[in-house]
Amino acid sequence: MTHPQPNAAAAEELVRRHAVQGATLMTILHAIQDEIGYVPETAIAPLARTLSLSRAEVHGVITYYHHFRSAPPAHVTVQLCRAEACRSMGTEALKDHIESHTHCTFDSGHAEDTELESVFCLGQCALSPAMMINGELHARVTPVKFDRLYAAAREKTEVTA
Ligand code: FES
Repeated sequence: MTHPQPNAAAAEELVRRHAVQGATLMTILHAIQDEIGYVPETAIAPLARTLSLSRAEVHGVITYYHHFRSAPPAHVTVQLCRAEACRSMGTEALKDHIESHTHCTFDSGHAEDTELESVFCLGQCALSPAMMINGELHARVTPVKFDRLYAAAREKTEVTA
């Protein structure tokens, strides 16, 4: 799937804005992602030039750290805890429900508007199963509760069914 990318001039400007004195590749990558939600491919060349690195080095750092996205995030991102305490409270059955309800698959990138991601412990073990939807923590999630939360998140981001 191809994603819209800022053109060369826009990417150059994006990098210039964040490449302040003393900034490292990591701080610039974080700043870019904080600003537009991902690190576009078109930013690789200006980053490499600005920091006197090769394009391969910049690309290597972006792909090495799971945190960095190379494509815009989905409108709705669901992070389901699949660690031990949540597993013991039915997180795998919840996972199956979520996949069937959203028509998406966990950990396979995002299709159109939803991304499902497995995470391992959200620090809410006593309130499992736990998940985050668009960065908001939810505990003791049931299939019915998930459906309600998911619908609300889609509505909030103006995704139509
Ligand atoms: S194991 Fe799920 S929140 Fe800790």
